Amino acid sequence: MPTSEPSPHPKPPARRLELEATIYTLEQLRDHGRAEDCPGFPDGAPQVALAGRSNVGKSTLINALAGSKKLAKTSSTPGKTRSVNIFRVLPDGWKLVDLPGYGYARASKTDRAKWAKLIEAYLTSTPQLKAVAMLLDCRLPPQQLDLDLAAYLANIDMPLVAVLTKADKCKQAERGARAREWKDILSGYAPVVVSAKSRLGLDALWAALERAALGDVQR
Ligand code: GTP
Ligand code: MG
Repeated sequence: MPTSEPSPHPKPPARRLELEATIYTLEQLRDHGRAEDCPGFPDGAPQVALAGRSNVGKSTLINALAGSKKLAKTSSTPGKTRSVNIFRVLPDGWKLVDLPGYGYARASKTDRAKWAKLIEAYLTSTPQLKAVAMLLDCRLPPQQLDLDLAAYLANIDMPLVAVLTKADKCKQAERGARAREWKDILSGYAPVVVSAKSRLGLDALWAALERAALGDVQR
C-alpha cells in the first residue's frame, strides 16, 4: 500500500556512465586533454581513475557501477584493457577512468612498456585527476606491485581510495583481516570492500568516488 512516510533507506541517486574517449597513445592522450570541453567545469571536469593489477576487476567494477554488463570490456584472461577509457558520470559530469592493468606477466615486453608509459603519462599529466581508486584482490596478501603503486601515488601526491575487490570470493573474516592489513599499510585509511558479483559495497563505493572527485580524501 502506498505511504507518504519517508523511507528509512533513501534510494541512492541514479547515475549513468557514458563512454567519452578510448585512448591508446600518448598523442591521443594529449589531444583529448586539449579538446576537452566540459559545461559547468571551466577547468575541466574532475576525474577519478581505477588502477590495479591486471585481472583485479577494474572493468567489471565499472560495469557494476553502471549497472551494465558491457560498457567496459572485461575478460577472465588478464590484459583485456589496453587503453585509457574515460567515462562521463551523468548527471553530474565528473569522470571515471578505466586504466589498463599492470603486472600482466604474459604480455610482451614492448606492450607492457607501452601501457606503463601511457598510464604514467595519464597519472602525471592530467590536472583534472583528483584521486586514484586502487583495486586490491581480497584473496591475496598485499602484493609487491600493489605496494609499489601505493608508494608511487604517495610520491606524486595523488590521493588514494583503496578498494578490496571480489569480496564474494572471500569469507568475511578473511576480508576483515585483509582490510585491517591494508589499513595499517595506508596509515589508518580503511579500504572500501566491494563485490561486482553480489553488488556488496557499491553504494559506499559510489559515495567514496564522488567525495574523491570533489577532492575530499586523505593524501
Ligand atoms: P585488465 O583489463 O586486464 O587490467 O583486468 P581488469 O582489472 O579490468 O579485470 P576484469 O574486470 O576484466 O575482470 C577479471 C576477471 O575477474 C573476470 O573474469 C571477472 O568476471 C572477474 N571479476 C571481477 N570482479 C569480480 C567480483 O567482484 N567477483 C567475482 N567473483 N569475479 C569478479
Ligand atoms: Mg580491464
